[in-house]
This record gives sequence, C-alpha cells and structure tokens, in this order.
Amino acid sequence: MPDLVRIFDTTLRDGEQSPGFSLNLDEKVKMAEQLEQLGVDIIEAGFPIASEGDFQAVREVSRQARKSAVAGLARATRGDIDRAWEALKHAKHPIIHTFIATSDIHLQFKLRRSREQILEEAAEAVRYARTLCDEVEFSAEDATRSDVDYLVQVVQAAVDAGASTINIPDTVGYTIPDEYAALIRALRERVRGIDKVVLSVHCHNDLGLAVANSFAAVREGARQIECTINGIGERAGNASMEELVMVFRTRPTLNLDTRIRSEEIYRTSRLLCNLTGTFVQPNKAIVGRNAFAHEAGIHQDGVLKNPLTYEIMTPQSIGLKENTLVLGKHSGRHALDSKFKELGYSLNKEDLEKAYLLFCKVADRKKQIYEEDLITIVQDGLQEIPETYHMLLVQSTGGNQAVSSASVRLRKGSEEFTDSAVGDGPVDACYKAIDRITGRTYRLLDYSVRSTTKGKDSIGEVFVRISTGKIEYIGRAASTDIIDASARAYLNAVNKAIYHQQRLALQPEDRPARQRGGSGRPRRQATV
Ligand code: KIV
Ligand code: ZN
Repeated sequence: MPDLVRIFDTTLRDGEQSPGFSLNLDEKVKMAEQLEQLGVDIIEAGFPIASEGDFQAVREVSRQARKSAVAGLARATRGDIDRAWEALKHAKHPIIHTFIATSDIHLQFKLRRSREQILEEAAEAVRYARTLCDEVEFSAEDATRSDVDYLVQVVQAAVDAGASTINIPDTVGYTIPDEYAALIRALRERVRGIDKVVLSVHCHNDLGLAVANSFAAVREGARQIECTINGIGERAGNASMEELVMVFRTRPTLNLDTRIRSEEIYRTSRLLCNLTGTFVQPNKAIVGRNAFAHEAGIHQDGVLKNPLTYEIMTPQSIGLKENTLVLGKHSGRHALDSKFKELGYSLNKEDLEKAYLLFCKVADRKKQIYEEDLITIVQDGLQEIPETYHMLLVQSTGGNQAVSSASVRLRKGSEEFTDSAVGDGPVDACYKAIDRITGRTYRLLDYSVRSTTKGKDSIGEVFVRISTGKIEYIGRAASTDIIDASARAYLNAVNKAIYHQQRLALQPEDRPARQRGGSGRPRRQATV
C-alpha cells in the first residue's frame, strides 16, 4: 500500500487572495463543493479576521462540507483565533491554522519583536487554539529563510503546546529542492515528538520550483502538501495540486499517493477558470489545453499506433473526455440530459430547459457539438444571478474603414428598451449602447475571448471584468458569434453589479471590507 499524503487545498485562501482571483460567497461555496468532490482532505476556506467576506465563506463552507476538513487561517493572536473559531465551529472537522513569522527579516522589519517574544507567542497561540479545537496547525511563516536552530526551537514549542500539524512554508518561493529536503530532514531529526504530528509543506512558485520543492519534502517524510488548483496563489502562485497528484499517480514505484479522484481534476480546474475568468496557459502541465495534444506528425503517428509511445498518462485519468462528436441539432432534451449526466452534471428541470435553449441556438449555427461545447453551454446557461436586463437583440457594424456602431435591445421586466451607439470597435459600441439603456457606466478592466474547440464554427467564450470604482464584477458568456458573446458577457457583469448593489442597499453588513487584517496592505478590491 502506498503512503498517503494529505492534500490541503488553499485555493480559497492563498489562491483567492491574489489579484484577479477573488470569488464571492456563492462562488466559494460552489468551488468548495467541487473540491470535496475531488477528494481533498482539507479545504482552507479563508482568513476569517481579514474581512467579513472571508468570515462568511469559512462559516458557510464549514456548515456545508461533509467529507473534507475545513481550515481557517489566523495570526498568532487571540482575536484572530477567536474569529477563526467562530467561523469554523460548525464544521464536522474544523482546523484552526495559526501562523507567525520566524525569519529574522520578518521579526525585525515586520513584527518588530525579538526571537524570545515570537517563541512565546507561537506557543501561546497553539495552546489557546487547542482549548477551542482539537486540530491545530502551526505555520512558521518564511521558514525557509529562518535560522534553522531557531526554527527548531519554535517548532518544538508548537509541538509541545499541542499542534497536530506543523507547516514549513517557503513563503517567498526562495528555497531549492535539496535545501528544502535537508530542512525537513533536520526538523525530523531534531524536534522531539515530531513523528506524532503531520509535517506539512507549503511552497510558492517564485522560482518555478514549488512543485519540485514540495515533492522533495515529501520524499523526506512530509505527509501534507498545501497547494492550489491550477497553481494559483500569491505572486507566482502556490504548488499546483494537479501536478503533484499526477506525479504520484504516474510513478507508482514512489509508493506515495493521495486520496484525490484524479478524474475530477479537469472539471475542477475548468470550474475555477470559469469562476475567476482566468485561464491557465495552454502548455500548463496536466490541465493546459495542449497538455494532451500531439501536434507533430511523428508523435500523432506514434500515439495512434500505441498511446504509450508519447503519453505517460491518459487524458481520461484527469477526466478529460475525448473531443468526440456527441449530439446534433435534432437531439432532444432527453439525449441532452443523459449526456450531461454522463459528463457529471445533474440538472434540475429549469436548468435543463435553459441549457436546452442555449444548445438549440448553438446547434443551429454549429454542425457538430462536442463535449467541450456542452460543458461551456451548461456553465453558461446556469448563471445564478437574476437577470435585471435580458438581451433580446444585438447588432453591430465595424471594419477597418468604418466607424463602428451597435444597436442593442434589452428587456427589463415587461418593458423593452432599444438604443445604439458608436464606439472604438463593435464591442465597445455594444457596451456603450448597453450603458445608455441601463444609465450606468462601468470601467472595463479586462476582456478576453477564447474558443472552446477547434474550427471556424467553434463556440467563443468571453470573459469581462468591470469595475464600479470600488468593486469588480466578472461576466461570462458563450456563443458561436463573438459579438453576441461579448455583449452578453458584459450584460452578465452589469446584472451582477446591479444585483449586488441592490443587496448592499438591503444589507449594509454585506459590504465588503476594504482592509485585509493579515498584511496591512490595502485589501484587494472585492470581486463579486
Ligand atoms: O506563504 C505562507 O507563508 C502562508 C502561510 C500563512 C501559511 O501562506
Ligand atoms: Zn502562502
């Protein structure tokens, strides 16, 4: 039997706190559900003292998670720990994750405290957290740039105070595999009782070594990896979960494994992309669009003869369906429903109807519909925010010699509104026409378009990020016509902004906090 390595997923904490990856409460809950489905051992759902939004996310994920344990982050203070516990206490398996920096550079310039003080605060935090919660993880922030003798003392104090997991973060992504392995070895040799706790690693990817460093540490006996989906996280990101999981799966002689259901990897990665509007680079290991694509003729020939010639793992092992033709325009609701079920989506009647209408629209324009298209349709069709404005018509003209213009007709309740505008290109003209109808203007921060499958008639998926000045909203839509997708993506973001503003007016306590408690830097803008 292989040795099991625990997967501690911090997509919703370290990942979500990086710019461009913010999620709202519903999105975090949806992501947490998928993480459970994926089989992660622990979901770190947020940093409860940092903002009301983080608190609510940890509380909600704690209430809902049934299989995975839920962790909440806290600095080594009673205030932070109490707040984390308040959010975590409903969880079936709660974990308080408390941390303090141990490197001299952090002590001197950030914390302005002595080594003795930090040693005492670390132990006291763990002791206090243990009075509330059976499982307490202690992290020595910036461990890899800390004096090893001092780190041994702090870890010893945390173990003696009752920590059940000790985490050794490479906070700034500075370490290299041999050095990190040696640090883990030193701790295992020098800290009394370390064999009674789980030794955890948490690597950042500033030098592109996060996965290699985590792997080296596991070879030295670490048995928990902190990582994120798609490797998102502070700066260059955290160790990518899918890469580590597939290292163990692909190399069974290592005798290491995780509880991850690898067939859920692709769906989880895709969900995160859709929720955040940010896609992974095409050549990203495991989940990039080219990860299983063989372009060179000699490779294609080999793969056709025997996939093992050039494939070390199958696309199916990460849940990537072959891009097979699945349905045509004459397929009915029933066929669509069973195909969705096969793809792992169980839709209620209302959602199936929405997806079916979208499917008919796409099938009218596109001869062949692939599984990838269906995933796009289902994720596009099931947007949960109520549509204040519904798109009825969009028409635009453009070209390199013409002034671009667009006409848009929207329905609000039982009323219809039509307006037109000129703009800097047809998409800009559409957005201006929409703004004229809604009477609001937003700053367009980001616009991206990608095709879901190959071919001229592929579905185009558009993501936009707009800002009201204080808050950002992501919109998404898919269509075989990119002007249609662009207009609906913008309208989707506008509808979210309107819905959120209405909720803010009703519940002032929902207002996102602007200050993050953790680092003292201005809180990133909340994205809703
Ligand atoms: O990178 C880091 O040091 C962290 C800790 C809070 C675990 O994210
Ligand atoms: Zn981190």
